[in-house]
Amino acid sequence: MPTTLLPPGPKINPLNGYLLATGRLDPLRFLLNASRDYGDIVHFRIGGESIYLLNHPDLVKDVLVTNYKTFLKGRGIERTKRIMGRGLVTSEGGFHGRQRKLINPLFHRERIGAYGDVMVDCAARLSKDWQHGKPLEIADEMKRITMAIVGKTLFDSDTEDESGEINAAVQSAMKGFTTFSLPTGKLLERILTPQNRRFEKAKAKLEGFIDRLLAARRVSGEDRGDVLSMLLATQEEDAEGFLTDVQIRDEALTLFLTGYETIGQALTWTWYLLSQHPEVEAKLHLEIDAALGARLPTAGDMPRLKYAEKIFKEAMRLYPPVWRLMRRAIDDYQAGGHTIHKGSLVLLSPYAMHRDERYYAEPARFNPERWTDDARRRLPEYSYFPFGGGPRRCIGEGFAWMEGILLLATLAQRWRLRLAPGHPVSPQPVIMLRPKYGMRMIAERREAAAAAIPQFSSVA
Ligand code: HEM
Repeated sequence: MPTTLLPPGPKINPLNGYLLATGRLDPLRFLLNASRDYGDIVHFRIGGESIYLLNHPDLVKDVLVTNYKTFLKGRGIERTKRIMGRGLVTSEGGFHGRQRKLINPLFHRERIGAYGDVMVDCAARLSKDWQHGKPLEIADEMKRITMAIVGKTLFDSDTEDESGEINAAVQSAMKGFTTFSLPTGKLLERILTPQNRRFEKAKAKLEGFIDRLLAARRVSGEDRGDVLSMLLATQEEDAEGFLTDVQIRDEALTLFLTGYETIGQALTWTWYLLSQHPEVEAKLHLEIDAALGARLPTAGDMPRLKYAEKIFKEAMRLYPPVWRLMRRAIDDYQAGGHTIHKGSLVLLSPYAMHRDERYYAEPARFNPERWTDDARRRLPEYSYFPFGGGPRRCIGEGFAWMEGILLLATLAQRWRLRLAPGHPVSPQPVIMLRPKYGMRMIAERREAAAAAIPQFSSVA
């Protein structure tokens, strides 16, 4: 029988609410403490808004899969809409279903398999200018590589010359996102602050970039089997006028942006964790050397890179790039004996769930070995959900797994990355979970490392 009593939860005064929503009070610590102290359903208010944090895998599944129709994505998505327009990430209902059907073929298994060579080629080529013993900003390097990959695979275009500028525009556009929700957010967006002016400039830059790609393709009229060709061909056949020029740009920009930032962050955290766990790194090297010798990997090597897969999986457990998902209830909703009232926000956090000791022994420990077949079978569904679930599940999940594993193998075959001495590391949850101070690392060429460390000479 549902109760009208609110679930337990912390009382948050207005100042702390503002600090939490703007990330000035650590939202990650807040989520961990709230789930530990108050259980599976936690209620709190920020700025007068009711927020329910759901911490049980079954409750997560209910929201994302079983009862997804009771929820929309919520206000958090409004600002994303200002960047991506009505692309796949931000649309809702029937409109979303239609877009998803249109874009799905680009992510079919056979198609993704064909992207493997481009992924490896980009990683090998763009890491060629790394120098032994020299520091690198690995978060930027990873995004340079992942942007080149999404540019080439989905847009058949070279973005390398522009990648620095595009990334700067993306980072600028993302500033000012609130971590949970602020009812004043919409109003603030309309006021012409310097931050809003920077945002508009960044947005114009990104739109200009996609417009140029589209214009060039319209002129050439070539079918290159990529996102641009597919969208333009569909537009021609679209009698109902669903795919307007603006819609095409929104879809293309959405795929471009979602396609590089998430995976770039996931890989950055993976290199950091490897640098802190030389025993895991050594095992990864053994696997790569046994599977590949000196040749570069291909998509066909994936079954031989099982340890790399465990490492990537474990890194996304500890540092899921999408650290929280938000939904807004469009009807009263029953969860765990409580009524979540229409209009309330529902918060699901892969970050908190992935660190719950009910599912993960020693949850804070980086331990790729935990991902045995048996553990995978035993873990409840949705105790691990870095890619979300249900009809809004990440469309790029297969792409991301392949890219993560192939990039790890390609780069770790030649390089080890050491955290630069004294570099501070702290996760900062904005839209993605990113390293607050970047990730400054020293590249060491593996042949050189192998010569210096006798036990490596047998495997390198
Ligand atoms: C490690 C990498 C990635 C992670 C952790 C990730 C995570 C997610 C999550 C959690 C969602 C669901 C959000 C929600 O329900 O509110 C999502 C949706 C989405 N992702 Fe990813 N993603 C990754 C890579 C990619 C890539 C490589 C692409 C494209 C090439 C992509 C494109 C999308 C799109 C278009 C959506 C919206 C899907 C829809 O609503 O129908 N993602 N992603």
